[in-house]
Amino acid sequence: MRAKITIVGAGNVGATAAHWAASKELGDIVLVDIIEGMPQGKALDLLEAGPVEDFDCRILGTSGYEETADSDVVIVTSGVARKPGMSREDLLETNKNIVTSVVTEVVKRSPNCFLIMVTNPLDTMTYLAKHVSGFPKNRVFGQAGVLDSSRFRTFVAAELKVSVEDTQALVLGGHGDEMVPLPRYCTVSGVPITELLPKEKIDRIAERTRKAGGEIVALLKTGSAYYSPAAAVVQMAEAILKDKKRVLSCSAYLEGEYGLSDIYFGVPVKLGAGGVEQVLEVRLTEEERAAVQKSAEAVRKSIAELKL
Ligand code: NAI
Ligand code: 2OP
Repeated sequence: MRAKITIVGAGNVGATAAHWAASKELGDIVLVDIIEGMPQGKALDLLEAGPVEDFDCRILGTSGYEETADSDVVIVTSGVARKPGMSREDLLETNKNIVTSVVTEVVKRSPNCFLIMVTNPLDTMTYLAKHVSGFPKNRVFGQAGVLDSSRFRTFVAAELKVSVEDTQALVLGGHGDEMVPLPRYCTVSGVPITELLPKEKIDRIAERTRKAGGEIVALLKTGSAYYSPAAAVVQMAEAILKDKKRVLSCSAYLEGEYGLSDIYFGVPVKLGAGGVEQVLEVRLTEEERAAVQKSAEAVRKSIAELKL
């Protein structure tokens, strides 16, 4: 049987995610947005690309939720994106209301789905989605680490003039400027980059990774990144739908791992048919642990703003 993927929010990230998902034939796709006509138009347009691009899936746009019933995976991208000068936290109040209503509608019709959150502030919105849905922690998680690691990999590959395919990276922490790239665990075909690059260069790459979302916002001026975030969330959906047991950084609910509890936080997890099947704990140095604590404090502060 074909999988069913609902994507709520048919804006930049949502529509691009639909595109990646269709091109990989991950399943039938339902695109939802409050702007009447827009999800319907984008869905029809994408459907009509199928004969050229050789993908065969049903793609439907709607402003309601009936068509989303019995989805296997629901990706939530609905909400406002930041503009120059804004932090992800500035979006909290508006996106809290949007995420609350969207998750309520979605889970009524798809009580067994996996919820993958994208809306910012990411870790906080994922915490909210778990609260609103009442779902177990393995079925609610957020996309951030795949994107942040992909950015790190891009910059390492460019610096060393090697293929991005041979780079691996691990970025822990909240999806904010306090995120924690871990150079010791970043490799080029198994060789740690600490063996390949001087510390100053690695520090510069780590800093650029932390600020990479803002770099795109400053260039675009009208919104934030979407090609890479959309590719990242589709990789997570694929890991679940194909039971790939991928090890990817995701915002996952922690209950003691990394010394943290009752928080959504970016950590490496095993993603498969059971959703988040395992949180992997890697050993950290004192300095790395301190950076993780600092990032966790920022996420906790944001979660407190939800006033749940
Ligand atoms: P966008 O503005 O292009 O699209 C958002 C869409 O959500 C709009 O089409 C809007 O009409 C829709 N929407 C608003 N309220 C809705 C509701 N109640 N029901 C259904 N749809 C609704 O924004 P973009 O660029 O797609 O970003 C979406 C969100 O994802 C933002 O919060 C952004 O900050 C976040 N984001 C997160 C990333 C991550 O790594 N976690 C990366 C990129 C974006
Ligand atoms: C990013 O990192 C906006 O959170 C988004 O690009």
